[in-house]
Amino acid sequence: MTHTVPLTEKAARAPKAELHIHIEGSLEPELIFKLAQRNNMKLAYDSIESLRDAYAFTDLQSFLDIYYAGASVLLTEADFYDMTMAYCERALADNVVHAEIFFDPQTHTERGVAIETVVAGIDRALADTEKRGLTSKLILCFLRHLSEADALATFDAALPLFERYPRLIGVGLDSSERGHPPSKFERVFERARAIGLKLVAHAGEEGPPSYIYEALDLLKVDRVDHGVRSIEDAALVTRLADTRVALTVCPLSNIKLCVFDDMTRHTLKDLLDHGVAVTVNSDDPAYFGGYVNDNYTATIDALKLDDAEVHTILRNSFEASFVTPQERDAMIAKLDAYWNGTAA
Ligand code: ADE
Ligand code: ZN
Repeated sequence: MTHTVPLTEKAARAPKAELHIHIEGSLEPELIFKLAQRNNMKLAYDSIESLRDAYAFTDLQSFLDIYYAGASVLLTEADFYDMTMAYCERALADNVVHAEIFFDPQTHTERGVAIETVVAGIDRALADTEKRGLTSKLILCFLRHLSEADALATFDAALPLFERYPRLIGVGLDSSERGHPPSKFERVFERARAIGLKLVAHAGEEGPPSYIYEALDLLKVDRVDHGVRSIEDAALVTRLADTRVALTVCPLSNIKLCVFDDMTRHTLKDLLDHGVAVTVNSDDPAYFGGYVNDNYTATIDALKLDDAEVHTILRNSFEASFVTPQERDAMIAKLDAYWNGTAA
């Protein structure tokens, strides 16, 4: 007799990769308060509840204002370690076996925290978690609302770290999208490409399809973060499908930031139907109401995804990752064995 489980449960238990998670966006209100106390800092909110109550966003910028305020409690190596370890615990609970994690050094260097402190704390937690079955990579993101010169200076400051930390394998582009097109960062991405780094950029979250074209043609990214507005341009959808440049989609984020009115309106399934390599990720789980499995559950329920579609999304998470071909094949073999041995 075959024991059947609901598809959401089957997906929750499946091994998976998470490819779009901002480590500062995993900072839960409880930890914000704990770190503020440890660092003798006063917050603008007098309780955990009042901070959480402020998490009602109308667009990307309204979120970013609170997100940067939350990150201001991070000062020491131990702070970055504790934040990262808390994310790793949640990722392990969701059967994430591989995570590619973004961090925003300028958010911290602007406040006088050394970039080495940031990377050392994050990397030490990731190294400690590797033994427990979660492998990882780190991606340094430039804040696009700041200048090109600031991004170039950040890249120069990070150069020794790319040598010292093998986990640090790429650069990305995040923060306020509208008015800050990828073209603004063509030169810094060119420099990153010249030293062999992997390249990603947020594009087509709030910004138009033209920003996705710029990310592909000018920055030459390996993946597009979000990219959900590609659906507005049929030629772009075909190009994404043909080239298998993956989209790291973050469904709960898109709802919380009002990119779509509700989850039944999300374009993830349309993109999947057109053959685009979509993945499911949490973005800023502490702010958007859920970690990666919550994103799978909400998407499966609202878009009525079937067994084969969920399997495809899970496979895409490994195919789009920056691990070696051998590591990728081993992860996919484990996923397939699990998937085929479990009836939904
Ligand atoms: N930084 C953290 N989360 C982000 C998002 N969803 N878009 C742009 N920048 C971000
Ligand atoms: Zn993001």
